[in-house]
Amino acid sequence: MKKIITDTYAIEFESGYDSLNKIIDKKKYSKIFLLVDENTENYCLNIFKDKTNLSPNLIRIKSGEENKNIHTCIKIWNTLISLNADRKSLLINLGGGVITDIGGFSANTFNRGIDFVNIPTTLLSIVDASVGGKTGVNQNGIKNKIGTFYDPKLVIVDTEYLKTLEQRQINSGYCEIFKHSLISKENSKFEYLMDCDEINFSLDIIINSINIKNNFVVEDKYEKKLRKGLNFGHTIGHAIETHFMSSDKKLLHGEAIAIGIIIESYLSKQMYGFDIVKVDKIKNHLLTIFPKVKFNSSSINNIIKVMEHDKKNKDKQVNFILLSDIGKLIFDVNVPKSTILKAFEYYSE
Ligand SMILES: NC(=O)c1ccc[n+]([C@@H]2O[C@H](COP(=O)([O-])OP(=O)(O)OC[C@H]3O[C@@H](n4cnc5c(N)ncnc54)[C@H](O)[C@@H]3O)[C@@H](O)[C@H]2O)c1
Repeated sequence: MKKIITDTYAIEFESGYDSLNKIIDKKKYSKIFLLVDENTENYCLNIFKDKTNLSPNLIRIKSGEENKNIHTCIKIWNTLISLNADRKSLLINLGGGVITDIGGFSANTFNRGIDFVNIPTTLLSIVDASVGGKTGVNQNGIKNKIGTFYDPKLVIVDTEYLKTLEQRQINSGYCEIFKHSLISKENSKFEYLMDCDEINFSLDIIINSINIKNNFVVEDKYEKKLRKGLNFGHTIGHAIETHFMSSDKKLLHGEAIAIGIIIESYLSKQMYGFDIVKVDKIKNHLLTIFPKVKFNSSSINNIIKVMEHDKKNKDKQVNFILLSDIGKLIFDVNVPKSTILKAFEYYSE
């Protein structure tokens, strides 16, 4: 039976629904709520009902990153209040990273914390967002500015939900699988993914990817140092995602992180001699999946400004997580602006 144990909860596969029922029996919840957006209500709710036989109270929110904010949280809290939720209530999050992030945050803050369970329905939320205990919302156009660490009681991974997911969303999730292969000490995973003819998200790859993330989290839950390794590609990637958030050319999380990975791999070469052959391979692999995005000097300057506001930076210095080789992380590197500009040129050429 496949199961990944974290320090406080389990990430389960086919056995997940049985465990959910056991937790519900044991905890004797006063009420069960299910958080969905219009897509997960349409495509995932029937699968959930078939597999659990539960009929929870539905809380519906609008899909999309632009709705991952405190206003949506207020809506969730108000719905919980109007349906008489109390401290003994359970919230189940059925959706992608937006649902698991905002659902986890709402659960943590409602009545000083009610139990929640994540059932991720996108590839990205399966391998990344639903595990690790980070919850939160965007504020003032800054990603995940308001948030907490709060663990779910259980995560259920069921790839049946992925059947209705658009290819663009699958690609976005694959980017995090690929990132995990770059920061994992096991070089073979990176080579394996690079050698696949098309993007590979088999169950084995998914389990391996979750395991890589979980190992970082268990070693350093509150991101004192090692967990920052999971942010490889994210310093630039988050800023790019934020930059495009207010434009009509929005990028998905993984699409922005893919650019971040290419740029930060190049920075790794410039600062720590990461092998250019590997950097070129990474760039070529990601560009076959994610179409190149155009940047002009004003957008690059804005992206650098956004980075200066990023929560990971101390004293306005932009700190990067870089690689000297696959799996060899270097933490808190301050990179000169001229090198960042060069890396954007490398991405664009
Ligand atoms: N907490 C963390 O550690 C962590 C890590 C990585 C990313 N994130 C966050 O995750 C979010 C991105 O997550 P995402 O990529 O899953 O985006 P998402 O939640 O916006 O989902 C993408 C789209 O797919 C739809 N959808 C979901 N499941 C579906 C299904 N099975 N079939 C059809 N459509 C479906 C959604 O309604 C949405 O329109 C970002 O906000 C990011 O900051 C959090």
